[in-house]
Amino acid sequence: MGLREVFDAARDEFAALAPVVWDRLGQAVVDLGEPAPGEHVLDACCGIGSSAAPAARAVGPDGSVDAVDLSPELLGVGRRRAAGLGNVRFAQADVTAWPGRDGGYDLVQCAFGVFFLPDMDDAARGLVRLLRPGGRFVVAVWRSGALEEFGAAYRDVVARVADGPGARGQAPQRSEAGRINTEDSLGTWLWSVGCADVKVRTRGLREPVSDELVWNLVLGSGFRSSLDGLDAAEVERVRVELPAELARRGVAEVDFSAVLGVGTRAD
Ligand SMILES: C[S@@+](CC[C@H](N)C(=O)[O-])C[C@H]1O[C@@H](n2cnc3c(N)ncnc32)[C@H](O)[C@@H]1O
Repeated sequence: MGLREVFDAARDEFAALAPVVWDRLGQAVVDLGEPAPGEHVLDACCGIGSSAAPAARAVGPDGSVDAVDLSPELLGVGRRRAAGLGNVRFAQADVTAWPGRDGGYDLVQCAFGVFFLPDMDDAARGLVRLLRPGGRFVVAVWRSGALEEFGAAYRDVVARVADGPGARGQAPQRSEAGRINTEDSLGTWLWSVGCADVKVRTRGLREPVSDELVWNLVLGSGFRSSLDGLDAAEVERVRVELPAELARRGVAEVDFSAVLGVGTRAD
C-alpha cells in the first residue's frame, strides 16, 4: 500500500484525532508562521486542513491558501471542514511536483509531512524555493520520544499476535523524522535547506490513554500498515491487547509533543 492509500484508508480515525491532536498542533504551526492579512500560503501535506484552515482565517479574503495533499479522502474532509472559507483551495497532488504561484508564496507550512517526502532534504529545498525572497518556511515534526512508548508497545503486540516479528504484519516504517526531532537538529536542518533567521520551539502535548484514543491512533496513522496481513480476529486481538500492554508498561499518556521551526528564504 502506498502513502496515499494508507491515508485514504485512515480517513475516519484520522479525522477523529483532529480535536485532540491535529487541530491543536496545526494552530501551533500557524502561531509560529504568523500568516498576515493578504498573504499567500502553501500548506504542504495539508491532511484535513488543520493548519490550512486557521491560516486561511488569518490571511482573510485578500489572501489565499493552497492546501495540497496526496490523499483525496483527507482532502474531502478538509473541504467539508473549511466549507465557510472562500480563500482556501484543496488540491490533490504530490507536493514535490507542485508548481507554486507567480511571485512566490509568503509562507509555506508543512506539519508532520516533510519526513514522508521521498528525499526529505531535496524536497524541503524545493518547498523553500516556492517562497518569495524573505518568505517564511514553517515545519512541525514529532519531538524525540513522542509516540515512542506507544510505538514500542504496539510493535510488541503486533509481533505477538502475528507469531513473531516480521512473520506477517510489517514493522512500522522508520522514517527520516529522527534526523530533525530536537530543537537543535531541526534548527540546523532548516539552515541547511536554505533558510535564515531560524527560530525553533517545542509544543508539549500529552493525552491520557483511552481505548478510543489508542485505536484511533493505530487506524488513523501510518501505524495501521502494520496490520496488513493480519485477519479480522487478529486485528481485534491487537485492539484488545494494546491498551492492556500500555497499562502493563505504566504508559498512562500518549506523547504527541512536537518541535516546530520557522526560517526565512535565505537567497
Ligand atoms: C501525518 S499527516 C499530517 C497532515 C496535516 N499536515 C496535519 O498536521 O494534520 C501527513 C500527510 O502528508 C501527506 N503526504 C505525504 N506525502 C505527500 C506528498 N508527496 N505530497 C502531498 N502530500 C503528502 C499524507 O497524505 C498525509 O495527509
